Amino acid sequence: MSVTDTLGRPLRDLRISVTDRCNFRCVYCMPSQVFGPEYRFMDRKELLTFEEIERVARAFAACGVEKIRITGGEPLIRRDLERLVEGLAAIEGISDLTLTTNGALLAQKAAALAAAGLSRVTVSLDALDDPTFRAMNDADFPVAKVLAGIEAAAAAGLPVKVNAVVKRGLNEHAILELARHFKGSGHVLRFIEYMDVGATNGWRLDDVVPAAEIVQAIGAELPLEPLEPRYRGEVARRFAYRDGSGEIGVIASVTQPFCGDCTRARISAEGKLYTCLFAAKGHDLRALLRGGASDEELGEAIAARWARRDDRYSEIRSAETAGLKKVEMSYIGG
Ligand SMILES: C[S@@+](CC[C@H](N)C(=O)[O-])C[C@H]1O[C@@H](n2cnc3c(N)ncnc32)[C@H](O)[C@@H]1O
Ligand code: SF4
Repeated sequence: MSVTDTLGRPLRDLRISVTDRCNFRCVYCMPSQVFGPEYRFMDRKELLTFEEIERVARAFAACGVEKIRITGGEPLIRRDLERLVEGLAAIEGISDLTLTTNGALLAQKAAALAAAGLSRVTVSLDALDDPTFRAMNDADFPVAKVLAGIEAAAAAGLPVKVNAVVKRGLNEHAILELARHFKGSGHVLRFIEYMDVGATNGWRLDDVVPAAEIVQAIGAELPLEPLEPRYRGEVARRFAYRDGSGEIGVIASVTQPFCGDCTRARISAEGKLYTCLFAAKGHDLRALLRGGASDEELGEAIAARWARRDDRYSEIRSAETAGLKKVEMSYIGG
């Protein structure tokens, strides 16, 4: 079955947050002033179990979902995550199963994740020098361990993408350093514009480094040419190095929004369905799951919610919308 929303967008991708906790406190995501010792994270019993997540994922697959991304918080801090990977990889209709991680635990976990059926992995890394990286992750975590995680993933046979968020005044100098480092490595580097997700990161438009500026900065030293999108809804704009040594991507969700092609649904770790990263309210699937709904009823609830969807936040973003109540990125999953 395929379902489309009020703007004609099909449901194709599902992002599953498996925890709202994280071992980093990235300044643009979980600022430590807010996510400190007093912060109330979800209780264990509030989280969907792996069995519940698999049931929900099967219902989404029946509604047309082909790609699943596991995220968080930091997904690798959820114990035995490879068991979930194995369950999700076995779902009929799922052709792509990926994971976004900060890489801290990837060196230990990569082989088990690959063996469990993960298709590929995305690792977040915002700088190559320790002072900048530590200032951004606010957990005193060194670059070398993330690089070791990337190596371990590649050695386990997992294709790797590297995501870097760029924040004005913090890590602009990292743009070229990251490009030089990953050029020719086979790993695709992607830059993400700093977004006004959640309500705690103190986002200002002035802090956004536009994707066009990033491409221009790289292209001036390492000549680039634009690539055609591979499919409808591809969020990254891709550029190839003219010398054939690989490609980069930019995710320009602020300066060039892509709501018109957005085919993504998200579920939080407690089983709420969100149809937009910038939503304030979700639809409680856990109540259905734990209330004894059949697979068919679950699928009908998902399809009905998707059919009503009219979100296009990034296209109508303004100084006013930036201050609206929204769920945190660590809660909904990036
Ligand atoms: C919320 S994280 C969850 C997965 C994992 N902890 C990680 O960092 O990769 C997913 C992605 O969202 C990105 N992200 C978080 N806050 C952001 C923001 N305000 N603007 C843009 N990207 C953001 C992160 O850099 C990461 O690549
Ligand atoms: S971006 Fe990822 S690693 Fe950083 S605080 Fe958010 S969830 Fe944690």
